[in-house]
Amino acid sequence: SDRMVLGPLVGSIDQGTSSTRFLVFNAKTAELLSHHQVEIQQKFPKEGWVEQDPKAILNSVYECVEKTCEKLQQLNIDITNIKAIGVSNQRETTVVWDKTTGEPLYNAIVWLDLRTQSTVERLLKRIPGKNKAFFKFRTGLPLSTYFSAVKLRWLLDNVEEIRQAVDDGRAMFGTIDSWLIWSLTGGKNGGVHCTDVTNASRTMLFNIHSLEWDPELCQFFDIPMEILPKVRSSSEIYGLMVCFLKICPSLCLGDQSAALVGQMCFQDGQAKNTYGTGCFLLCNTGQKSVFSEHGLLTTIAYKLGRDKPVCYALEGSVAIAGAVVRWLRDNLGIVKTSQEVEKLAAEVGTSYGCYFVPAFSGLYAPYWEPSARGIICGLTQFTNKNHIAFAALEAVCFQTREILDAMNKDCGIPLNQLQVDGGMTNNKVLMQLQSDILCIPVVKPSMPETTALGAAMAAGAAEGVGIWSLNPGDLTAVTCERFEPQINPEESESRYARWKKAVMKSMDWET
Ligand code: G3P
Repeated sequence: SDRMVLGPLVGSIDQGTSSTRFLVFNAKTAELLSHHQVEIQQKFPKEGWVEQDPKAILNSVYECVEKTCEKLQQLNIDITNIKAIGVSNQRETTVVWDKTTGEPLYNAIVWLDLRTQSTVERLLKRIPGKNKAFFKFRTGLPLSTYFSAVKLRWLLDNVEEIRQAVDDGRAMFGTIDSWLIWSLTGGKNGGVHCTDVTNASRTMLFNIHSLEWDPELCQFFDIPMEILPKVRSSSEIYGLMVCFLKICPSLCLGDQSAALVGQMCFQDGQAKNTYGTGCFLLCNTGQKSVFSEHGLLTTIAYKLGRDKPVCYALEGSVAIAGAVVRWLRDNLGIVKTSQEVEKLAAEVGTSYGCYFVPAFSGLYAPYWEPSARGIICGLTQFTNKNHIAFAALEAVCFQTREILDAMNKDCGIPLNQLQVDGGMTNNKVLMQLQSDILCIPVVKPSMPETTALGAAMAAGAAEGVGIWSLNPGDLTAVTCERFEPQINPEESESRYARWKKAVMKSMDWET
């Protein structure tokens, strides 16, 4: 049968904490042609521990690619037109594998995992004044359970197979991007062991100014440098995929950077908030690294080509956003699907004074308090599951308000609207609540898969691929949906003040 003629296509692997997706875009119009999504299992072997199987993650990528290609073929679209593939990934999640067998040596320790609390405390003792922010100007990050260095330290301290593999020169470390790219480009038969500057900037072993692994930091965390991947720019050809399609992965970007690109936030001062498992507000600060006084991180936004300048971002990270909905589904069982939460919340339209602080992994920005634990407070006999569902959604909005406030203080010029994306933005109740709680409009692109789009755009723009110029004018105008504040600011403020009280109660829970 006749094939549709579309010109070059670009694929995008989006490996998030909750799911893996593969999406294929028309490179001329950025139109999404087909995609497939698979949910990823998370394991909670002990209280506070979060793991994933690296092999299952890799297989989910294969499954998504295969299914998407089948769908494209059904649409009569020629898959050989896919000219480049971008990878965007959950950041910080740590994998160590054996390069001779291609097998992981332990489960991936997911960014949310809290097992390193005691590792962090032990390391803090070696820092003058036990100052968590000691490495802030070099790495952009506070010492926290969140970043890869402490997870890797834990693996080296606790897993004999890993120690042995390091001694034998068989061990490789990587975040999910490295694990996927190494595996997809040949694995034990010559896979490319690399990462990009955005992912490297989340390990706490990387100097965000020199753009190199920092020998002093590696010494402080006692990490053997030979197991680290080579750091490349975010947009260049890394190698040839050997497993399918024979296409070059030409880009990798941490998912939050990819969303920044997908939302076209290329100018200084442009920001986006992505609602995934967690919630991440990034503001582009251009070629200047800005350091926060209010609990935000300094991170690498992107470096779109070997000879291109590096751009930085200020980031407010919230650990639990979509994860709270999954918790209502899997742990409380008050809904069968995540979508039902919107219905439950809409039925009541209020939490009836109930506040839910989902500090399952401690609290991230702006508090950085690993000992915080989740609480639901303000319960009465009147409270039911609808109110709890509402409070869970409201918690996502309050947490965003806290990081937006911090961002406004650090930047000086307050944002007058918020660009949003990510799976949860399909929830209209959440979007309206977000606008009410921020007291500014919330703007959502009609195609909310901006993370994947960003990765695809930058992959298509790589040197040697060159099918996208990263000129936003090339793309068809992005249509947006707007949510305007509907409650008065006083009411919003009083609810926010209550939330802050609830946050205080959640802190120092663990003594
Ligand atoms: O830092 C973790 C982040 O990259 C995870 O993103 O979309 O899986 O919540 P997401």
